[in-house]
Amino acid sequence: MEKQEIRTFGRRHGKKLSARKERLIEAILPNIAPNADEKNSILEIGFGAGEHMRELALDFPNQIIIGAEPFVNGVAALLSAICDENDTIMPEYKNLRIWPDDVRLLFNKAKFQFDTIWVLHPDPWPKAKHEKRRLLNADFLTLLDKNLHKNGKIIIGTDHWEYYDWILEQVKKTKLVSYESDTTEIVKTRYQQKNMAHTTEPKYIILGVE
Ligand SMILES: C[S@@+](CC[C@H](N)C(=O)[O-])C[C@H]1O[C@@H](n2cnc3c(N)ncnc32)[C@H](O)[C@@H]1O
Repeated sequence: MEKQEIRTFGRRHGKKLSARKERLIEAILPNIAPNADEKNSILEIGFGAGEHMRELALDFPNQIIIGAEPFVNGVAALLSAICDENDTIMPEYKNLRIWPDDVRLLFNKAKFQFDTIWVLHPDPWPKAKHEKRRLLNADFLTLLDKNLHKNGKIIIGTDHWEYYDWILEQVKKTKLVSYESDTTEIVKTRYQQKNMAHTTEPKYIILGVE
């Protein structure tokens, strides 16, 4: 990052990776780096274990799906799910690209024109003293706007309602506008399923430029 950004994610490493996952990280990951020249692309920020990324790859076979995730075990889980027993990416997932780091570093590297940007269940950082770690502040939303196609949209989902309201307040400080969102069909990511036991339905925000 050009200036030292505040860290918005928890851990980078979880439990030790299997030998296969280590191998996939070494052999496959370098070959599927995002490239801003590949037009017609979709971005997912903080893809976790990549369930929704895989849905996107299948739903939009003619588009490039780029995912950013600094949590190594999440990246390894996605690689493991998209590769066959010969460590080759399955044909239906050939349109996936992975940025295994903070998405803000990707935006420093190149300018994109995404058709859609997804952010599902961003870390809510609920304690007041951690509020500055929230990713979806006005500056970041403006950065997303700069990397969005003029007809593109940003889709944000969270089951943390206080964060939801906070994001809408941040949107007011940007040029983005919020659209009605109740018709969106969203897959239930693993994080959301985990959370369903003790929270209510997620709410979605759809943003675009007027
Ligand atoms: C609460 S998890 C949700 C994961 C997944 N979207 C889901 O719904 O299961 C939030 C994820 O965002 C990632 N994240 C946080 N800050 C990020 C950043 N600056 N760039 C990319 N990913 C980030 C974290 O590493 C974490 O995996």
